[in-house]
Amino acid sequence: MKVAVIGTGYVGLVSGTCFSVFGADVTCVDLDLEKVDKLRRKISPIYENGLDDLISNQVDANRLHFTTDLKSAVQGADAIFIAVGTPPMADDGRADLTFVYQVARDIAKAITGYTVIVTKSTVPVGTAREIKKIISTENPDADFEVCSNPEFLREGAAIQDFMNPDRVVIGLDTHRAQKILKNLYQPLLYKDVPIIFTTPESAEIAKYASNAFLATKITFINEIANLCEKTNANVDDVSVAMGLDARIGSKFLRAGPGYGGSCFPKDAVALTQTGQHHNAPQTIIEAVVKTNNYRQHAMAERIIVMCNGDVRGKKIGILGVAFKPKTDDVRDSPAIVIIQNLQKMGARISANDPAAQEQATKILNDIDWRDNAYDVAQDADAVVVVTEWDDYKTIDLKRLGSTMKSKNLADFRNIYDANNARELGFNYISIGRM
Ligand code: UGA
Repeated sequence: MKVAVIGTGYVGLVSGTCFSVFGADVTCVDLDLEKVDKLRRKISPIYENGLDDLISNQVDANRLHFTTDLKSAVQGADAIFIAVGTPPMADDGRADLTFVYQVARDIAKAITGYTVIVTKSTVPVGTAREIKKIISTENPDADFEVCSNPEFLREGAAIQDFMNPDRVVIGLDTHRAQKILKNLYQPLLYKDVPIIFTTPESAEIAKYASNAFLATKITFINEIANLCEKTNANVDDVSVAMGLDARIGSKFLRAGPGYGGSCFPKDAVALTQTGQHHNAPQTIIEAVVKTNNYRQHAMAERIIVMCNGDVRGKKIGILGVAFKPKTDDVRDSPAIVIIQNLQKMGARISANDPAAQEQATKILNDIDWRDNAYDVAQDADAVVVVTEWDDYKTIDLKRLGSTMKSKNLADFRNIYDANNARELGFNYISIGRM
């Protein structure tokens, strides 16, 4: 099978590389020559566990190619995956489909023979039909079908998620396209991975609904955590008790400083916009978006309260700026909001992150970056754990506290034992636990 993937961002690069592992002959296309050059040298432009090695193996096996020339990549392709960005619009957070539609126009002129065109980018319901119209207008003779095949990859575990997914969702209209995509996903069919064939509209909504539901689950447990704090309950125990009910499930019930990342915040807002547009308001998700935004700011407030209501001139040490461990991604990370709020209130910030310093430096100013947690804590008035990197879980708390100016410790990921921290003399706060 010959496959072209347009866009070598997170989704495109992981998908393209993994399709080549499945046995397809894959060409990934990107406008960015520098990126393509890097990839040809077998260097991944994104931070993802195992991706460098996989790219290298597949390039060596001559199954994975990179180019800036869209035309040559899509000519003769059995399937073309559109995996370009759909960033939020500045005014209302709707998904901006400019890049997707531009790719559709470029593809229209270049395809030869029957081609299955698939959206992998996260796109609102109705986009596949719109792409179909665009291509038919640009090239009335084109022989093609537009399908939707959303991704469900987590950053940091993307390859594992691609190779062993809970399910694959494919929205399409004809058996002809189904045959081609079944063929492409054959290795997963062999493993009995459920492949759901449905309409493009259902596939498009399934993607947003999945992310919005998970964001809701997190937001729900975060509000329960607030109640636990007021009532001497422990949210970790509540999560376990709830999660053992198979109807609820234990995943995504970890209370924390609010969800972040490049997907949940953007997709939750976009779904509320789609709901408004179709006169089917998504009031639950609207509340989730509002509650999560508020929570990230409220976390900064907690630190200020811990520092006796005033952080002016005080040194606050931040452990973790990535939105979650095993990534260098800081987009919509709670740490960014917390740091910026503290700086506004006059705090000085020292920080550490095992992977995200470079990315964070593009957004944050005046940070005293340190190589490890102990250096962050030196002379600090408070230390705050925002990202649950393994490095921080194994910290010697006694040593950490020994050089702090005031032993204030805010653990927004509940990685430490509260009794132990207090026995060591910390003024310790966490999430949903007394
Ligand atoms: C998410 C989804 O999990 C993927 O299925 C989806 O494909 C992807 O978005 C996407 O749309 O591309 P990702 O953004 O990589 O993946 O991150 P998650 O692991 O889902 O975490 C998102 C946020 O929720 C993080 O800030 C994390 O700290 C937070 N979270 C997660 C919690 O606060 N508690 C939990 O129990 C779980």
